[in-house]
Amino acid sequence: MAKNIIISGASGGLGRDVVKKLSDLGNHLYVTFGSKNTDTFSGFENVTGQVVDLTNNDESVNFIDTTLEKAKTIQAGIFLVGAYAPGGLDKTDDALLAKMFNLNFFTAFHLVKPLMEHFKANGGGQFIFVGARPALEADQGKGNFAYALSKSLVFKMAEFINAEGKADNITATVIVPSTIDTPTNREAMPDADFTKWISASDIAESIAFILTDSGQKLRETVFKIYNNS
Ligand SMILES: NC(=O)c1ccc[n+]([C@@H]2O[C@H](COP(=O)([O-])OP(=O)(O)OC[C@H]3O[C@@H](n4cnc5c(N)ncnc54)[C@H](OP(=O)(O)O)[C@@H]3O)[C@@H](O)[C@H]2O)c1
Repeated sequence: MAKNIIISGASGGLGRDVVKKLSDLGNHLYVTFGSKNTDTFSGFENVTGQVVDLTNNDESVNFIDTTLEKAKTIQAGIFLVGAYAPGGLDKTDDALLAKMFNLNFFTAFHLVKPLMEHFKANGGGQFIFVGARPALEADQGKGNFAYALSKSLVFKMAEFINAEGKADNITATVIVPSTIDTPTNREAMPDADFTKWISASDIAESIAFILTDSGQKLRETVFKIYNNS
């Protein structure tokens, strides 16, 4: 059955494939853009786009309000905004931590709060977040201190949502990709073996499954999509 779904980070390397897949399945998508590529889905009839700075709470809440006016109900929120920064403890300062927390945690948190209220009042809903492997594996996290720490908040937020949402049919799933095969990553790491990476379209397939009737029954799920990385 077609769903009304919010997707943030729609024009990103992962977002494009997720929007394409879920749009092809006939869903009604309400997507956010950062400042760039805001016409990415101009030919898509079932995609409504809005430029929103999701680090700003008021803009984020306003986006949910205007989306609910149009869609009436939302069944799922997929939060794909995020950013990477390298650097171990010695290279990490308050400014870097604030930047990573803003982009990787607050951009999701600002949508979670109003959407949680909506899901509770409307019989449930699904949250899908994107974590990162360095938040789960300290050997990888130590060299990406601020990034890994900010992504670890996403896993914790999902756990708390799952605990709070249990009685209301509300679930949170965390997708954990290894390196995604995007043009940006190919440009940054031209000598890497791309076949070991995970394609954005494979991640989109997993997300589509999570939204099916069977996928909706998953609980406290962390999807490690590493391929051979
Ligand atoms: N790429 C990887 O290898 C990899 C690996 C593990 C996890 N991840 C995670 O997967 C997710 C998607 O990654 P990606 O490679 O698709 O990232 P991406 O290409 O950099 O896309 C990020 C998207 O977020 C938007 N955005 C940035 N700041 C924003 C803000 N303040 N408000 C609203 N939107 C904003 C960007 O819009 P603009 O371009 O207009 O600013 C862009 O559409 C991220 O959470 C990332 O951390 C990625």
